[in-house]
Amino acid sequence: MKAAIASRPREREFGFGEADHRAIAELAYREVGILLPASKAQMVYGRLAPRVRACGLSSVADYIGLIDSDAPERGRAIDALTTNHTFFFRENHHFDDFNRLVWPDLKARLASGGRVRLWSAACSSGEEPYSWLMSMLGSDRSGGKRLLSGDFRMLSTDVSPSVLATAKAGIYPANVVETVPGPLAKTWLNKSGDGFEVDPALRAAVVFNVLNLLGDWPIRTTFDAIFCRNVMIYFDGPTKARLQARLADALKVGGLLCIGHSERLDGEVARRFEIVGRTSWRKVA
Ligand SMILES: C[S@@+](CC[C@H](N)C(=O)[O-])C[C@H]1O[C@@H](n2cnc3c(N)ncnc32)[C@H](O)[C@@H]1O
Repeated sequence: MKAAIASRPREREFGFGEADHRAIAELAYREVGILLPASKAQMVYGRLAPRVRACGLSSVADYIGLIDSDAPERGRAIDALTTNHTFFFRENHHFDDFNRLVWPDLKARLASGGRVRLWSAACSSGEEPYSWLMSMLGSDRSGGKRLLSGDFRMLSTDVSPSVLATAKAGIYPANVVETVPGPLAKTWLNKSGDGFEVDPALRAAVVFNVLNLLGDWPIRTTFDAIFCRNVMIYFDGPTKARLQARLADALKVGGLLCIGHSERLDGEVARRFEIVGRTSWRKVA
């Protein structure tokens, strides 16, 4: 669990000055596009202090020196700096839009042997892709499994390997699954110790991969729908515009793009879409 609240500067265990924050902010921006203004210094310190300790160092400056040459540790630093907040059935209106506008045709396509490809881009610990699946399949377990046994895949990616490990395991504490509607929880979640495990049929339908949205995408398909929600809020305007244009390219004409409720499409990119719901867009060209 990442520290949301860090110690006050004078209580800090490790040295951490303005130049250190700037160096970390430059790294985060360069590697993953995340903006970390000076106002986030306490948060940055709180997230990196455990890594400084784990590496046996006595200051963040030493840690910056280390991650300069140690690529795996640099990856762990980036992982620690990401904000992974998510929950089951977050911004539920996107699932409703998908179910209303896109899923009926996709279901028919699957039933007649066709291919369906969906992408949860920046999926964090898996609550988003599993919610999406539960919502589209409803509480008809055998009908849902039949659809999933067709040519169906949901790609789910994130830059943070630690949250992807949780997503792949598909096991969540009881309080985390509280927002799953009762009938869907009954159908798709199985009791596992003190928590719940996502049904293996849902887990098998998802391919989880580490992917930096700013880097190369080793993806050879185009998608029927993409959810890319609550990640662009961390990016600047040019990064958002570039990413949105690439997402549009990765989508089939007629496909659905859902972005977070506080995110907007760049003007140029928006011309390729019609708005079909609150922050739901359908590709027209
Ligand atoms: C706040 S979570 C949103 C999760 C989910 N989409 C939702 O709306 O609930 C943002 C996620 O974006 C990921 N992220 C940040 N920068 C990224 C990048 N450059 N490439 C891929 N994922 C990134 C983070 O690791 C984090 O898990």
